[in-house]
Amino acid sequence: MQVFNAQRIREDFPALSFCNAKGQRIVYLDNSATTQKPRCVIEALVDFYQHMNANVHRSFYEWGNRATEAYEHTRVSLSKFIGAQHPEEVIFTRGATESINCLADIIGQRYFQQGDEVLVSELEHHSNLIPWQMQQKKRGIQVKGWPVDADGNLEISALQTLLTPRTKLLAVTQVSNVLGTTPNLKEIIACAHANGTLVLVDGAQALAHLKINVQDMDCDFYAGSSHKMYGPMGVGFFYGKRKWLEALPPYHGGGTMMESVFMDSFTEAGVPKRFEAGTPPVADVIGLGKAIAYLQQFDWQSLMRYEEAVIAYAERTLCAIPGVRLIGHPETKTAIVSFLVDKIHPHDVATIVNNQNIALRAGHHCCQPLMHRLGCRGGVVRVSLGMYNTFEDIDRLAEAIDVALTVFKS
Ligand code: ALA
Repeated sequence: MQVFNAQRIREDFPALSFCNAKGQRIVYLDNSATTQKPRCVIEALVDFYQHMNANVHRSFYEWGNRATEAYEHTRVSLSKFIGAQHPEEVIFTRGATESINCLADIIGQRYFQQGDEVLVSELEHHSNLIPWQMQQKKRGIQVKGWPVDADGNLEISALQTLLTPRTKLLAVTQVSNVLGTTPNLKEIIACAHANGTLVLVDGAQALAHLKINVQDMDCDFYAGSSHKMYGPMGVGFFYGKRKWLEALPPYHGGGTMMESVFMDSFTEAGVPKRFEAGTPPVADVIGLGKAIAYLQQFDWQSLMRYEEAVIAYAERTLCAIPGVRLIGHPETKTAIVSFLVDKIHPHDVATIVNNQNIALRAGHHCCQPLMHRLGCRGGVVRVSLGMYNTFEDIDRLAEAIDVALTVFKS
């Protein structure tokens, strides 16, 4: 196994050399919100606008051909990256949120009847809850919660009791954006399928940390965002098994998604075009392709081991500070830890550590039901890693929390 060299990797990310007025270099620990971008991704965006800025799938000139080829190349590399069987099973969107909204709407149109149920885990980001609640309003289905236990785990025994003959779909995350929990998706999906229930996995927080194989986990749908996997903002994707995508209606109407159009009707294009109406974010999709190529150079076993070691160090270090309490204790997890500091509001902790040039997120993290379950209505402070974070970053955070505790004591 290769040794993972985070110090070397940092050199690929220009933003990480930023220093504040006191000369302190940035410690960026908000990777669940967005990751920094390697130089090759930034250069790909500039290269697109300088050397091939044209629309895709409709031009007969050199730039148009280049743009189309590079855009479709990302579809192929992304499909391989997530272990899909066919490139057409990957649909580009503006992000994981749009992916889930789109899927909720088209799955709802095709399959939901009044009284059907959608089961949503309590770990979910609002993006994988509210679209289903919107279907509840629109189509008279019932959204049911799958509660987490006090440690932040999803129990399969609870799932078995919640599934009913009316459960059409289960929505579950691959990695909790608050606790880092990594539910056993293979087991969960097999259990849902045994009940005839479709499964949509929110992979937004997983793609930068885990080796993904949608065929192996056997999910029906999978959603992700480029900007959380070192690619540009404004682009994401969903995966769907081809048999489902071919059965689903389009989401948006417009160019690309149609075959023939008359004044009173249209016929739908095939998959994937049916779901990609209008001009897509071409440069950003190409940038995502570069991010994938960048990620593919690493030995993933080493990358995952390294991140596990850093997050375990973060937990030990934070735990050792009197007044700090970790939130949740999932059995399996990755890259994320949340905590509270005695008598200091999470927003104040984030503000004080920012004075030491440490970037992290505090609040409810778009997971209010989970916050309620964990008894953290005021939110939590979150450390979320990228592959460029080091043990020294965690030491800097610990020093900054000591400062926060001193400020609040005095
Ligand atoms: N979903 C992102 C986060 O967890 C924004 O921070």
